[in-house]
Amino acid sequence: MQNGSSKTVIPSSPFIEGAEKYFEHFREFQELMMRYQCAILEVETKLRVLNNDMSVRHNRNPIEFIKSRIKKPISIANKLKRRGLDVNIDNMTACLNDVAGIRVVCSFIDDIYEIAEMLARQDDITVIEVKDYIKNPKPTGYRSYHMIIEIPVFFSDNPMNMRVEVQIRTIAMDFWASLEHDLKYKNDGADPDIETELFECAKTINETDLRMQQIRDKVEKG
Ligand code: GTP
Ligand code: MG
Repeated sequence: MQNGSSKTVIPSSPFIEGAEKYFEHFREFQELMMRYQCAILEVETKLRVLNNDMSVRHNRNPIEFIKSRIKKPISIANKLKRRGLDVNIDNMTACLNDVAGIRVVCSFIDDIYEIAEMLARQDDITVIEVKDYIKNPKPTGYRSYHMIIEIPVFFSDNPMNMRVEVQIRTIAMDFWASLEHDLKYKNDGADPDIETELFECAKTINETDLRMQQIRDKVEKG
């Protein structure tokens, strides 16, 4: 109302009650997404600190770049459904470890393990799970080091332990994974030779990664 003194009273109906419930849950969802975003900020800062420290004290830059993302609501819903779970906030927090995701792209294979170790050693980080797809590549040829970590984030009300998926890989592994992801999606199983070719490419890329590591070892030994 224009003078602000009177208020329009809308009679309640099942539709309005439904909408109110939806907005209530939407707010809760939005708040949780903000919390995941903050967890990403915390972990990203830790990674940048490690890189700066290594750069100044050891003249090395183990991290080339960092990419982060929050899982889209549609992907969250699809993943829960694929697992036969109801789409709700409780199932999302209890069953999904990759709502907050950070990809750390390193220069050399050894840098991956060094970064992973330095992160895991920090007192406020709990490592929930590690999947080493470098030592045990996926049948597709995919290589990366995956960690699920938990980190306390201090909000205005309370601290909350938040889970973050950290994928650590070399530039070469990242190059392969990005292209393979797009090509696999476009091919959609139509041509089985494509998968074989992509697998072969992953092998070649890995050989190059290993050679680059050997070259660095030689250079560093002087
Ligand atoms: P998801 O249900 O896919 O999350 O599987 P998961 O929970 O067992 O996790 P996993 O450790 O297998 O890692 C999944 C993530 O790793 C994916 O979201 C991708 O980012 C990446 N990934 C795993 N396998 C492949 C692959 O073959 N190709 C590419 N490009 N990426 C992969
Ligand atoms: Mg995942």
